[in-house]
Amino acid sequence: MGRFILLLVIILLTSCSTSVSNINHDFFIIAHRGASTYAPEHTIPSYELAKEQGADYLEIDLQMTADGELVAMHDEKVDRTTNGKGFVRSYTLHELKQLDAGSWFNQQYPKQAKREYIDLKVPTLEDILKHFGDSVNYYIETKNPIKGEYMEEKLLALLEKYELLQKGNKVIIQSFSENSLRKIHRLNKSIPLIQLMKYNHPATVSEEQISHWKAYARGIGPNYQMIDETYVKKLRDHNLWVHPYTVNHKKHMKRLINWGVTGVFTNYSDRGVEVKQGKVE
Ligand code: G3P
Ligand code: CA
Repeated sequence: MGRFILLLVIILLTSCSTSVSNINHDFFIIAHRGASTYAPEHTIPSYELAKEQGADYLEIDLQMTADGELVAMHDEKVDRTTNGKGFVRSYTLHELKQLDAGSWFNQQYPKQAKREYIDLKVPTLEDILKHFGDSVNYYIETKNPIKGEYMEEKLLALLEKYELLQKGNKVIIQSFSENSLRKIHRLNKSIPLIQLMKYNHPATVSEEQISHWKAYARGIGPNYQMIDETYVKKLRDHNLWVHPYTVNHKKHMKRLINWGVTGVFTNYSDRGVEVKQGKVE
């Protein structure tokens, strides 16, 4: 019996020294632009791989085409991630679908290159929802929403169409635009919203600011390099989620978890999942 207890203590001590010990709440690994280190960002293979790696959420940035279709792309221009040039909003969906959204990745990252990435297409949000249905969770960003273009209404209509709004936290919506989030909150109060923050200096936060956010948001998405433990604890004391971006190294993930963050955006969901499971060197 005594030896058994000793063994148990040793096992416990060993696991404490190698794992992240305080995930006592939901903690989300958010696959930033899909598994974007290993496959061309915001393409179906990139999202597929993130799902395979065990990410909790697929992160999708939204842009709008000239004919009002919602498509997955980070930049306002197609130049970096396709073989085209110019603003997404200057392309009709048909024109955008002619572009190659995969070969740039093979050229830029030869070690990760795959033949199957050649001539991948820019997916619409609907392509993605059709492809994955409710088999994944979605973390969607309204990017550069312009008044009168109805990005928010179109987004909610699609989420309704695919019956994704009935189920708990299946969809989270994020934006740097407070106006966009407040609009979504007016249209549907049950969707968790994340206010993204760009800090140019170490972040501090007042009670007044927290009350302001709590009026419409479930949490905050700050740059991980601009926050500290005090900031995280203050938001967590008010039950706000904290989802820092973009955290790619295990040691940073582990530090943030120990401060109490409730998720991380990462280009390495494989690493994120390992850290979450306690496999930290
Ligand atoms: O959405 C979180 C993070 O992705 C914000 O930065 O520029 O990569 O969309 P960005
Ligand atoms: Ca984003």
